[in-house]
Amino acid sequence: MSETTKLLDFLQQRVPADDASHKQLCTAVLPALVDAVADISRVLRASSAVSQVGTANAFGDDQLNVDVSSEEAVRRALDGCAAVVTASSEEDPVEKPTGCRPEWPPAPDSQEELYSVAFDPLDGSSIIAPNWSVGTILGVWRGPSALHQDPQTRQVAAVLGVYGPRTTAVVALRIPGTPPLCFEVAVGEAGAADSVVVRPDVKLAAAPFKTRYFAPANLRAAAEDARYMALVTHCIQNKYTLRYSGGLVPDVVHALVKGHGVYASPVTAASKAKLRRLYELFPLALVVECAGGRAVDPATGADILAHPSKDTDERAGLVCGTAEEVDFVIKSLLG
Ligand SMILES: *[C@@H]1O[C@H](CO)[C@@H](O)[C@H](O)[C@H]1NC(C)=O
Repeated sequence: MSETTKLLDFLQQRVPADDASHKQLCTAVLPALVDAVADISRVLRASSAVSQVGTANAFGDDQLNVDVSSEEAVRRALDGCAAVVTASSEEDPVEKPTGCRPEWPPAPDSQEELYSVAFDPLDGSSIIAPNWSVGTILGVWRGPSALHQDPQTRQVAAVLGVYGPRTTAVVALRIPGTPPLCFEVAVGEAGAADSVVVRPDVKLAAAPFKTRYFAPANLRAAAEDARYMALVTHCIQNKYTLRYSGGLVPDVVHALVKGHGVYASPVTAASKAKLRRLYELFPLALVVECAGGRAVDPATGADILAHPSKDTDERAGLVCGTAEEVDFVIKSLLG
């Protein structure tokens, strides 16, 4: 496959043609999500300043003007996509029918190819004012709801949009019965039609590793958790390279692009779990697993995708990246 296969051709080539049951996912849903990423990128470039809009979202987070515009960009893209029947987001965390689906709910025996999208339109609000890289996190679920669903089998695709000097997207697809896919897209200004696949197989490498990368999130927790402190010290003593910006998406994508890395956001008595399972953890975990890595809950050592989310506000910590590094981090944190 050439270095610059067009995204739409790539999807057609890589997803088995006989898989008619997921046709809309590849021809309509994923292109719409990449369109949304291009749109958000435009919004960010056009925002000369980032300001608070004076409201908080349902979780009590301060909302920024760019959060609101990014939310609108995703909703617009989904409203144009008939296969997506519901959506919910970190900014508006209630599953609602999309604009193209006034008839609701679908007949219980519907054989239609239907999806729900759960997303975080703009992740990284604490580093957006200095214009650091931020991201969008999108998870695509088979059926009309993402709640109470087995994440292993029902979350069939995820997209991570990365807004840096370039706009890119890492796309993962795991359709039951077909091999998982993970690839990187250079997102064109006009969206999916204008996007090319620059890395057709995003894969975390196997040992031995030339360079080992670590991203210790919530580092302040090390001051009160001797195990986390010992883990960080281990990484320093063993000459790991620190790559941490505070942007969850760019920090995880760093490992995927370099082929190695471990991201750790532990939970301690004094620092509670912050990452939402539905809007952040599930899509990230799907991408990391499709790239051959692991994504684990640091409180239990269980896979992030092992348990459904019962509501839109369930939270956890995260350890993800190269499988053997994740195992080591979990052993270090849990003893
Ligand atoms: C933010 O950084 C991007 C490159 O990453 C640049 O294109 C853009 O002009 C910058 N925005 C501002 C307001 O400086």
